[in-house]
Amino acid sequence: MPSPREAPSHLQEKMDEVREAVDKTIERLLPHTDLPEAPLFEAMRYGTLNGGKRLRPFLLMQSARLFNVDPKRARRVAAALELVHCYSLIHDDLPAMDNADTRRGKPAVHRAYNEATAILAGDALLTLAFEVLSDPETHEDPRVRCELVTALARAAGGHGMCGGQMLDLIGEREEFDLGTLSRLQRMKTGALFEFACEAGAIIGKGNEPHKKALRNYARDLGLAFQVTDDILDVEADPKLTGKPANQDGEAGKTTFVTAMGKEQAKMRAEMLVQQAVRHLHLFENRAEMLKVLALYVLERRA
Ligand code: IPE
Ligand code: IPE
Ligand code: MG
Ligand code: MG
Ligand code: MG
Repeated sequence: MPSPREAPSHLQEKMDEVREAVDKTIERLLPHTDLPEAPLFEAMRYGTLNGGKRLRPFLLMQSARLFNVDPKRARRVAAALELVHCYSLIHDDLPAMDNADTRRGKPAVHRAYNEATAILAGDALLTLAFEVLSDPETHEDPRVRCELVTALARAAGGHGMCGGQMLDLIGEREEFDLGTLSRLQRMKTGALFEFACEAGAIIGKGNEPHKKALRNYARDLGLAFQVTDDILDVEADPKLTGKPANQDGEAGKTTFVTAMGKEQAKMRAEMLVQQAVRHLHLFENRAEMLKVLALYVLERRA
C-alpha cells in the first residue's frame, strides 16, 4: 500500500481534474432557461453545481481508465451518477428526512428555494440521469447503455440507496445490531459506490472477475466512507464539511459511532479500507490511484 503521506497532493490534483470536467458536463446538461418553470432548473443547478467533492465520479473515471475507456464517455456516466447523488442529498436534507439547513456550506435547496421545488429538483435530477445514460452519445452499443441503466437503477432504488435511507430513518426509533447497521450503510452509501466502480468495467466491457473485484473494493470502501461520515458528524468542523455538526446525535440515529464508539469505529474503517485495497490485486499497479483514494477516505476531514 502507498504511504498516506505521499498521497494528498497527487490525489488532489487528479480529483480537481475530475471535478472540473464533471462540473462542465453537468453545466452542459443543465443550461439556464427563461421558461416559466425556470426555478426548477435553477434549483437543479444550485443543488448540483455547489462544490461537492465529486468522489463517486472520481471512482468512476479511475475504474474506466483500467479498461481504456474514452474519458468523454466515462464523464457522461460520471455526471449521471453525480446527478443521482445530488438528488439523494437534496431529499436527504428535507424536513421530512434529516431536516438539515446547510449543505456544501450553503443553504440546503429547500431553504434556498422551498420544499416543493427541492422535491421536484431531486425528481428531475434522478430522471435526467437515466436520460443521459440511455442517450447514444453515452455509448454506441445499446446493450452497454441498458446495462448501465439497470445497474444504476438497482443501486439507487429500494434494494440500494433508497432502501438504505428507509432503514436509516427506522434507525431513529429502533436500535440496530451491527449486522443490520452494516447492511443499512452498504445500501445507503455503498450501492452508489459500487455503481461508480463497476460502471468503468461496464463501459469498457470488462470481464466478470474484474467487475467482481471492483464491486468488492467499492462495497468495503463505501462502508468505510459512511463510517467516516458518522465519525465526522461527531468530530468534524462544520466549516470544512459544509453541513451541520452532530446531526445524527440530535436525530437519535443508530450509527457506527453510537453502536461501537468512536475509537472502535475508526478501527473498523481502517480494517475496511485495508480489505478494500486487497480486492484490487488483480489490477496490479494499474489501480494505484484507487488505492491512494482508499487511504484518503480514512484521513478526510470533509
Ligand atoms: C455525503 O456524501 C453523503 C454520504 C453518503 C455520506 P459526500 O461526502 O460524498 O458529499 P459531497 O458530494 O462531497 O457533498
Ligand atoms: C445520506 O447519509 C446518504 C444518502 C444516501 C444521501 P447522511 O444523512 O449521513 O449524509 P449527510 O451526513 O447528510 O451528508
Ligand atoms: Mg440521512
Ligand atoms: Mg443527512
Ligand atoms: Mg452523515
